[in-house]
Amino acid sequence: MNKKGFIFDLDGVIVDTAKYHFLAWKKLANDLGIDFSEKQNEELKGVSRVKSLEKILDWGKTTVPEAVFTELMAKKNNDYLKYIEKMDQDEILADVPKVLDFLKDEQQPFALGSASKNARAILEKVALIEDFKSIVDGTDVSKAKPDPEVFLIAAKELKIVPENCIVFEDSVAGVQAANAANMISIGIGEKETLKEADYIFKDFTEISTAFIKELIEK
Ligand code: BG6
Ligand code: MG
Repeated sequence: MNKKGFIFDLDGVIVDTAKYHFLAWKKLANDLGIDFSEKQNEELKGVSRVKSLEKILDWGKTTVPEAVFTELMAKKNNDYLKYIEKMDQDEILADVPKVLDFLKDEQQPFALGSASKNARAILEKVALIEDFKSIVDGTDVSKAKPDPEVFLIAAKELKIVPENCIVFEDSVAGVQAANAANMISIGIGEKETLKEADYIFKDFTEISTAFIKELIEK
């Protein structure tokens, strides 16, 4: 039987939390007097908390002392945690369970590959934590996407070579990380934004189990 390694990003792929990251960053930027557009937000998707704040400060052409930087990161995360506090299974994105269930039926191992340090807590809230064979998140990596580290660790834990891994990603940085890891990249979102991906779908409702089966058998 063919075995492939399926690796899922979390925010904006499994759950609809990308919007909460956006709201929390926007508030922080605006409080600092820095404009923050949805287009700029695309550049923060998949990017670590530290890098995100660095980019926002760059856009505002400003710098802050290290202690303030740490405070701002904590502030952003506290705001974000307020949004996700009441999360439950309803926030799993449409047809994600269809794909996860199919992979289970086909006995294909799958992992999480997320930049977020909140990933495990979120998976628990939406009751998916037991489903993943391996979870690699922001606490496990030293290099942020677009570096392939997070996906390479996941592949190792799944015991599948990178060339046989398939990554689902909603961010440009994540698609680049998957490509850099020599994996098949599947972009979830807009074609114009995710054009570097091997395949692009608007969301999981567009992904058929027949397509997943083809990937397994390739
Ligand atoms: C990624 C998100 O999954 O995780 C980013 O796309 C976020 O928006 C990053 O900044 C880090 O997440 P956290 O939860 O550790 O701040
Ligand atoms: Mg994402």
